[in-house]
Amino acid sequence: MTRPPSDRANKRWIKPLPKQLINKIAAGEVVERPASVLKELVENSIDAGSERIEIIIEKSGAKLIKIVDDGCGIDEEQIEVAFARHATSKISSFDDIHNLLSYGFRGEALPSIASVSRLRMVSRPHDAQSGTEIIFEGGVIQHRKPIAAPVGTSIEVENLFYNTPARRKFLKAESTEARHIARVATALAIGRPDIGFTFTLNGRKVFSRPPGESLAERVAGVLGDRNKKFVVVAGHIGPVAVAGLVSTPQSVQQSRSGQFLFINNRYISSPTLSHAFNAGYGELLPRGQHPVGALLLSVDPTEVDVNVHPAKTEVRLSREREIHDAVCRIVKDALRHDGIIPSIRTAAPDRVPGEPPVRETRSGSSSGGERHTIPGIGRQPVNTHLLSELYRSVPAAGGPAKTDDIIEVDKRTGEIITVETAAPSASPTGPPTGFRFIGRFADMYLLLQTGDDLYVVDQHTAHERVLYEEILEKIERHVLEGQRLLFPVQVELTPEQMVVFEESNALLNSSGFQVGPFGGRMVNIEAVPVVLAKKSAEKVLLKVLDDIASLRKTGHDLKKAMAQAMACRSAVMAGDRLDDREAVHLVERLLRSDNAYSCPHGRPTFIKLSRADLDRQFGRG
Ligand SMILES: Nc1ncnc2c1ncn2[C@@H]1O[C@H](COP(=O)(O)OP(=O)(O)OP(=O)(O)O)[C@@H](O)[C@H]1O
Ligand SMILES: [Mg+2]
Repeated sequence: MTRPPSDRANKRWIKPLPKQLINKIAAGEVVERPASVLKELVENSIDAGSERIEIIIEKSGAKLIKIVDDGCGIDEEQIEVAFARHATSKISSFDDIHNLLSYGFRGEALPSIASVSRLRMVSRPHDAQSGTEIIFEGGVIQHRKPIAAPVGTSIEVENLFYNTPARRKFLKAESTEARHIARVATALAIGRPDIGFTFTLNGRKVFSRPPGESLAERVAGVLGDRNKKFVVVAGHIGPVAVAGLVSTPQSVQQSRSGQFLFINNRYISSPTLSHAFNAGYGELLPRGQHPVGALLLSVDPTEVDVNVHPAKTEVRLSREREIHDAVCRIVKDALRHDGIIPSIRTAAPDRVPGEPPVRETRSGSSSGGERHTIPGIGRQPVNTHLLSELYRSVPAAGGPAKTDDIIEVDKRTGEIITVETAAPSASPTGPPTGFRFIGRFADMYLLLQTGDDLYVVDQHTAHERVLYEEILEKIERHVLEGQRLLFPVQVELTPEQMVVFEESNALLNSSGFQVGPFGGRMVNIEAVPVVLAKKSAEKVLLKVLDDIASLRKTGHDLKKAMAQAMACRSAVMAGDRLDDREAVHLVERLLRSDNAYSCPHGRPTFIKLSRADLDRQFGRG
């Protein structure tokens, strides 16, 4: 574009920006909202080696953000330097960034925050007789003087963005800012369970945690409530070690707001790793739900780049894919170890019919009875408390056990053990598998007894789970049988169904369907999978296509979506009456499945009522 001559004639002087303006521009990046101020200041307190940190927020940060720590403090002669741009005590060369052990390294936070607020800091190192008070207004120092103060640093940020009206206006509703603040405070507290945190938001004490907590105590302490149950996560695969505490699939919520991820103790946001968190639950997770909890990843610092964004919550990982898969695996293993994904099914093939179960008699056993471990689960490390809370007793699968088995946890070794009960199963209908079928309710629920526990099985979800795994396995092996129709049927698809059909055509045809294009949006069905043969071919195809479409939208793999759709369409429904033999057979198949605890949509397949629960309900102690 050519400029008018008058403009062109004007000389343009290149000059450095005034210091305060530079800081204000930087503040635009570092200090997006009150929650970012909180994060920067608390990270400074952590870097200062504090043992306790107190956070006080008023009017969701618009009025006051105050942090008090008992860390190393700042010397009087250094305090002004701390507010100079790019002044830091944390790194001295670029290489240090790659071996970063501190949260801060840019030397930008204090000058940026000071430039957009009224800031007062009081700091005293442990070897100083008194502290120093320093006050800034809009980045301009107001005064500095000695003052009596406890060891550590206290910093008050008032009237945030008072001199950047545009930014102040863009602050969201107080409740939105409060939510961001609460999330950041929670993340900071989880990231460092060794440090004590007190957090008061708008006059309400949100949490107060002592120093020296374990990770599990901290996570449960800040994220838990009476109804939430958690599972301990610990593992190391390839480039990553993971520690954490995650909720059971029953304690999930509709948003990801309860999920916290850390890399080398730094709270981060990463869509890839969030995905791995959820993926670890697989089908245990009801659609649209998210687990709650925290995962702390340890990765070689040279493989993490935190210098991507000034807020440092985004990271670049050099082996992201590998780390994703490892996190997913470790979460899955944790859920399995804690008995949520059952591994007792391995008991069945391990036991040769007719042979007694594997026995390991331990000397000094406290129960007095004979104990044996269940192959496949007995030797795995488990969290005894959680396990016993969750599924103290699980019906044993298959095999020739002639007694009712109760699974218990050996308090001494943490292993799962079974204790033999006295009475052999007397049920004429029950197979010798450790559970006794005692009846059905409302043509919907099957009732089983094992030891002192009553299990209520939902016949539809149980059947769905069984069929899903069988169908998926057959789809994978291309051996799902089809049944030819006496007369081919033509169906007209909607444009959306047509798209789904084209995408899944090959798979449909290797999964028992024989279906092909028939001009326009018509398709011709010649065969349907045997499992669906009882229903109308037209309805079956349309339903399967619709199911696949909606499952695909939620990111399901095509084969799994197909298996899920078929399982759902062919499972017995609530109201279908199963005879005793069918009921027992269904439960046996369920117990042998990979994941007996939920249907492919994540709904539970059974619930347990213990004798103790019932006794309590009836006031029996
Ligand atoms: N609470 C505190 N206790 C002790 N020293 C502090 C505290 N807060 C800040 N400092 C000192 O002030 C310096 C400047 O802090 P600032 O947050 O601006 O930069 P940084 O933490 O080094 O890097 P970044 O901008 O990435 O946060 C720090 O390097 C640290 O030496
Ligand atoms: Mg800092």
